[in-house]
Amino acid sequence: MAKMWAGRTAGETDRIADDFNASIHFDCRMFREDITGSMAHARMLGKQGIITEDEAETLCEGLAGILADLESGALDFDYTAEDIHMFVEAVLTERLGEVGKKLHTARSRNDQVALDLRLLLRGETDTICESLRELLTVLCDSAEKYADTIMPGYTHLQRAQPITFGHYLMAYASMVARDLSRYEDARARMNYSPIGSCALAGTTYATDRKYEAEALGFDGVMENSLDGVSDRDFCLEFLSASSILMTHLSRLSEELCLYSSWEFAFIELSDAYTTGSSIMPQKKNPDMAELIRGKTGRVFGDMVAMLTVLKGLPLAYNKDMQEDKERVFDTVDTVKACLSVLIPMLATMTVKADNMRRAASGGFINATDLADYLVGKGMPFRTAYKISGALVAHCIAVGTTLEELPLAKYLEYSELFDAGVYDAIDLDACVRRRVSEGGTSPESVKRQVASMRARLSL
Ligand code: ARG
Repeated sequence: MAKMWAGRTAGETDRIADDFNASIHFDCRMFREDITGSMAHARMLGKQGIITEDEAETLCEGLAGILADLESGALDFDYTAEDIHMFVEAVLTERLGEVGKKLHTARSRNDQVALDLRLLLRGETDTICESLRELLTVLCDSAEKYADTIMPGYTHLQRAQPITFGHYLMAYASMVARDLSRYEDARARMNYSPIGSCALAGTTYATDRKYEAEALGFDGVMENSLDGVSDRDFCLEFLSASSILMTHLSRLSEELCLYSSWEFAFIELSDAYTTGSSIMPQKKNPDMAELIRGKTGRVFGDMVAMLTVLKGLPLAYNKDMQEDKERVFDTVDTVKACLSVLIPMLATMTVKADNMRRAASGGFINATDLADYLVGKGMPFRTAYKISGALVAHCIAVGTTLEELPLAKYLEYSELFDAGVYDAIDLDACVRRRVSEGGTSPESVKRQVASMRARLSL
């Protein structure tokens, strides 16, 4: 395809250099945004009398035709065009003749690419937000269902205190709710139009940037044209929100792997989201969860690549910035793919409540409650903590549990003990009593679910 920018230079560029310079093989993904942006631009030029209203109409019809032909497959991308912007304009001129050449008045590819990428990312951010709401719905529904299913809670991966599975799920819901609000925040700052910044300095034409911004659904225009073409904060914010989200999905995936192992056997993933082994017939591998954990690294990589591309760039546009799109697209695709498999995987997994309860019954998980019982009888917590520790050590030494230890033994350690101790260390009671706000009791979990549903209108 002939080069539109061949004005200053007479010589041909090298073919290898052309390929190296080109971005059409990946920025063709923005064809809809490019064409929609161009239509708004043509209308603005017509409204302002920079071109005639008739010319604007002709340009819009031509652009609509290109869009329809690309959608239907009647028109193929020409990969010898440098980028999607050049391609669309070249086809338009080929189809319309001279008037096609008027489209690029009062703009530059620098503001055009910034516009296209914002439009695309705004749409993708909305799609991701919808999926996050779906994920939150699944988490809340399951949390409600398992609000009184007891499992061990861990710190240092050591059994710590009994919790409910509903409480555990709502921890992830809280994380995902923050992710959702991070994407929403990023979207709000993203939604300002760079178009009309032109190459870098604005333009001598009497453009109406606000009109164009409004037509494209933006909340306003970027106030400085140098910033308009140089800024990629919206990519960084998207990548950063995605990196944090992936950290959460990765932690959850790690636990799905762990909890579905024979050692834990707290859950079983549905056959639809596991694989078998080609050699070991007994295996049910949590490949999807492992892949989500693994793909987290790609998203971090995209974010670091983007930060690194931008960090030493002088204002305004530099070709380095062409590297932004593949990083952003990769993260968009990765996050969407991970969510699309995680949501049904969570919705269909089986919860093995008996195994969870059995695990919570061992490991002296109620030792804190034993200490709290003595505190309730007037003993200072530190003293109570020591006595409980000594009782646990005794149980380990003689191979028994706190539940089975006779009252006479308890009384050797403190005369504050009475038969009520057995109620105090009962697993269900331990959980039921954790009524503090945000705590693990079934009532508290149900409150958390209700509050999340109300806050996010799930
Ligand atoms: N393909 C370019 C990119 O992705 C478009 C902007 C080109 N601008 C320029 N002055 N060469 O960044």
